[in-house]
Amino acid sequence: MNNYEEYKTQLARISDLSYAGAVLGWDQETYMPAGGAPLRSRQLSTLAGINHDLVTAESLGKLLEELEKDATLDKKQKGNVLQTLKDYRKAKKYTREFVEEMSLTVSESFNAWHEAKKKSDWKIFAPKLKKLLELKRKECEMLGYKEHPYDALLDQHEPGLTTKDVEELFIEVRKSLVPFVKSISAKPLHSNAVLHQHFPKDKQWDFSIHLLNVLGFNFENGRQDLSVHPFTTNFGATDVRVTTRVDEHNLSDCVTGTIHECGHALYEQGLPEADYGLPSSEAVSLGIHESQSRLWENNVGRSLEFWKGQFPELKKMFPEQLKNSSAEEIFSAMNVVQPSLIRINGDELTYHFHIMVRFEVEKALFENKLEVENIPAFWNERYKNYLGIDVPNDAEGCLQDVHWSHGSFGYFPTYSLGSFYAAQFFAKAKGEIPNL
Ligand code: CO
Repeated sequence: MNNYEEYKTQLARISDLSYAGAVLGWDQETYMPAGGAPLRSRQLSTLAGINHDLVTAESLGKLLEELEKDATLDKKQKGNVLQTLKDYRKAKKYTREFVEEMSLTVSESFNAWHEAKKKSDWKIFAPKLKKLLELKRKECEMLGYKEHPYDALLDQHEPGLTTKDVEELFIEVRKSLVPFVKSISAKPLHSNAVLHQHFPKDKQWDFSIHLLNVLGFNFENGRQDLSVHPFTTNFGATDVRVTTRVDEHNLSDCVTGTIHECGHALYEQGLPEADYGLPSSEAVSLGIHESQSRLWENNVGRSLEFWKGQFPELKKMFPEQLKNSSAEEIFSAMNVVQPSLIRINGDELTYHFHIMVRFEVEKALFENKLEVENIPAFWNERYKNYLGIDVPNDAEGCLQDVHWSHGSFGYFPTYSLGSFYAAQFFAKAKGEIPNL
């Protein structure tokens, strides 16, 4: 076997192991009974440790250094090798103990968050989050950064992105977004009452499966399930899992959730299967990943053309609820701009204020300017300030999103970036494809 073949074999083995962990993670958020939590945390932590041994093996490092000098590699092979070398050097900065401790802490935090959200009690989550933040701060130092410790975390999700970039971007966005939202708020509010009737769960589920089909989701290579927080995960391009959730009194929750995750899934299902394990079979960044989900959710799923196509099927599912409605009414209801509490139900415009709040919380945490105990107050004050609304409880406030419990800090800005990328991709496509 030549060096490149050996490298491919080693990387495929690493992927085998990390996808096996992903199956356990998927199960944890979908079907695992509550009693399974402590052992599952252990299992995931052990797998993370073994995975760390493989990705930091001296033999892999040597192989990569030889391949780096190999003049016979083509452009794609070279690209793969350089990316893996970068990942290898990064992984070397971690110890096995640290990786296992992080994995265990993340599982514990996830379980605590789940309970805290159910009871709307920040105090249940706070001690776990504190421990997690200590580890994350350590991680920033291990990884290194030029200006701001938070840069090390942003870089994990969007390579090269810095705190300064995000700040500058949001300053620009606020300049146009604040007056735009104000001018809309000054006009009479469109009604979205049509979406807030009673829509039985099983019919919503059927409609979500219909949507996945029309958008091109491949059920041979994927499936959909229910979870508290919709997400997409994959075990290679040929097995991509999406989840959705159903609120019987808000049709748009399931619809936008399904379309959003379908966008992520289409990206994963479209990655080259033959490159299994190699960087060329993986997403280039989370911002780009999010550009695909946001493109389908906003640019397609909130368009009149889309609803003209889908309304007949929707009406078939809910003939009573929609007997006096039209595609135009659904389109209008899907586009109501109104500041709200829950990020994932946010409209296209006020959505970015949700991201700004999370960015400011995270930045303050990593500058040691904010204590975990004070996050709810900080959060509520920002919501009042940016969105003009009062947060009634922590479940609908700082406990609403799962990300911090996953240890995902520096992740939220990719949501806004993804939306901005999507808008540009879609504008370009519109220019090039007549009658898109
Ligand atoms: Co997403």
